[in-house]
Amino acid sequence: MKNILITGGLGFIGSHLSEALVKSNNVYVIDNLSKRVHPYKSFVYKPRKIKFIESNINNSSLLKELLPKIDIIYHFASHQDHLKDYSKFIENNVKSASLIFEILNDLKSKRLKQFILASSQSVYGNGYVKLNNKNYEATRILKNLKNKIWYAIDEKEKYIRHKETDILKPINIYGLSKQFQEDIVKQCARDLDINYTILRYSIVQGARQSFFNSYSGLCRNLITSYIKEESPIIFEDGNSIRDFINIKDVTKANCLILNNKKAYNEIFNIGGGKGHKLLSFNEIVKKELNTKINPIVNRYFRINDPRYTVSNINKMNKYFKWKPMNDINLSIKQYIDWVYKHKRFLKLSKNSLGTMVRQGSVIDCN
Ligand SMILES: NC(=O)c1ccc[n+]([C@@H]2O[C@H](COP(=O)([O-])OP(=O)(O)OC[C@H]3O[C@@H](n4cnc5c(N)ncnc54)[C@H](O)[C@@H]3O)[C@@H](O)[C@H]2O)c1
Repeated sequence: MKNILITGGLGFIGSHLSEALVKSNNVYVIDNLSKRVHPYKSFVYKPRKIKFIESNINNSSLLKELLPKIDIIYHFASHQDHLKDYSKFIENNVKSASLIFEILNDLKSKRLKQFILASSQSVYGNGYVKLNNKNYEATRILKNLKNKIWYAIDEKEKYIRHKETDILKPINIYGLSKQFQEDIVKQCARDLDINYTILRYSIVQGARQSFFNSYSGLCRNLITSYIKEESPIIFEDGNSIRDFINIKDVTKANCLILNNKKAYNEIFNIGGGKGHKLLSFNEIVKKELNTKINPIVNRYFRINDPRYTVSNINKMNKYFKWKPMNDINLSIKQYIDWVYKHKRFLKLSKNSLGTMVRQGSVIDCN
């Protein structure tokens, strides 16, 4: 039985993992129930038997008290948003990782075996496309986007899946903060002789994903809008390509790497492995909800958004025989079921489009 700390352990991914791990470990969770994700405490899902401490992760005295007894850390607490609150990304994502290692460094006895970081495919930024057998960076310019030219190089370009060995070129503050986190973890873990494992998730889906945080993405946006009988916004022309992974597969991956030497000092992509057009995803949701409402397409775009983002998951498969077992249809069904169970909270969720347009992170092309 190990003592495991999950920071942000009452969030979407953390609550599933803490529930799985508490069956055979002591699980400590530090979570500050951040307002953006959990505006209503009565709605928070808290797995039974975990040892929950409500606190900001940047709490030195708490970390000094807790870390001496911890064997493994999953660092999930993170600020995720499309708004331009830059300093919050640094405070929550970069400072937190640094502080944990600073305190680990001062401990008399070294107990921690593995530090696991939840990173993101957003560290890859625009990635690359293939055209006429040549690879190009899929960089796009704002002027083109404002004129509704959505491709990077040419309409015939094909996306290339991100590999763990790609050079990281994040294009937004969240991705940048994840890259900093990764660098801090690698550097400090080496200095302190602690094993690290970094998992770069694609878009994770399933029950308990906050329907209050605008960062929660396409699945939440479509499903909550259609249930409220509103037209959801699909950015650009709906032909952007994304890679989705079910929460159960993510939990499995997190359990496989736990205390596993093969995962020490390694980085793995954890994704669905194949790309889906946003419009195709929307069709599945519409069919599932049996709605005739249409989305608003080809009007808004998000600045600093890649056109394509799909991760290559061969490495995780090669090392652990892990592969996604739950397809997007199932993720959509699971999310719908969960939203219906909590429908009374749905009316409290607000559309954040206006704020994003005002702050300039979403552009209205009309
Ligand atoms: N969900 C995804 O699709 C996805 C994709 C890529 C990476 N990730 C990463 O995975 C991790 C977990 O994501 P999630 O989807 O579960 O997010 P989430 O927002 O549902 O959960 C994050 C939790 O961290 C807590 N938290 C935030 N700041 C904190 C702080 N300063 N101190 C203590 N607690 C704090 C929040 O209250 C929340 O419960 C994050 O690091 C995220 O960047 C998630």
